[in-house]
Amino acid sequence: MSLRLAVLASGRGSNFAALRQACADGRIDGRVVGLFSDKPGSGAVALAREAGLPAWAESPKAFATREAFDAAMFDAILAVQPDLIVCAGYMRIIGAAAIARFPNRMINIHPSLLPRHPGLHTHQRARDAGDAEHGASVHIVIPELDAGTVLAQARVPVLPGDDAETLAARVLVVEHPLLVACVAAVSRHALALDPPRWQDLPLASPLQLEGDRLVPSPS
Ligand code: GAR
Repeated sequence: MSLRLAVLASGRGSNFAALRQACADGRIDGRVVGLFSDKPGSGAVALAREAGLPAWAESPKAFATREAFDAAMFDAILAVQPDLIVCAGYMRIIGAAAIARFPNRMINIHPSLLPRHPGLHTHQRARDAGDAEHGASVHIVIPELDAGTVLAQARVPVLPGDDAETLAARVLVVEHPLLVACVAAVSRHALALDPPRWQDLPLASPLQLEGDRLVPSPS
């Protein structure tokens, strides 16, 4: 069964574009059935509209409360009947009530090797902490910020002379294949979310991206 993907994005939309491309060329057995955003002027929304894809984009300022915004967006998301929600650069915290409407079927890509550096400014913080390694994680969304089970990670070195910008660019290169590999694995039933399983075995630690493939962590 082809996976119906709802994608949430707030920014330029490069992860969203990578997902669409992977659906188009068959790496993901699925299709994006809607793009949802809290930033009507974002690149991601423009990309969706250019592609003729249904896009829901509203400013949270138009809603009385955070919960009202989440409720309206999740009404629109559930209306497209997704199998999986993918947060691909969605920069707004999603409240517990909204998450509870679609539990354990929502994933997020985060630009750090969780549990290191949840939240914002991850590249600067990796630099400031003197980390030798940095990267990206795909995790299950739960109400606690960036704290759900980490499904897979991609690692990059931190090099002398790096700043937040050079590090962000190096991480972004691996984010696209990481997110695509995770969604592809879900679409082919190699990766299950509830409970987290890889090839029918409980997922004991995050999978690692090697090239464009996911492999178990060395034990
Ligand atoms: C990506 O680096 C993603 O990991 C990050 O936003 C960027 C979006 O880029 N997400 C977060 O920081 C989530 N807290 P994109 O719009 O080009 O996909």
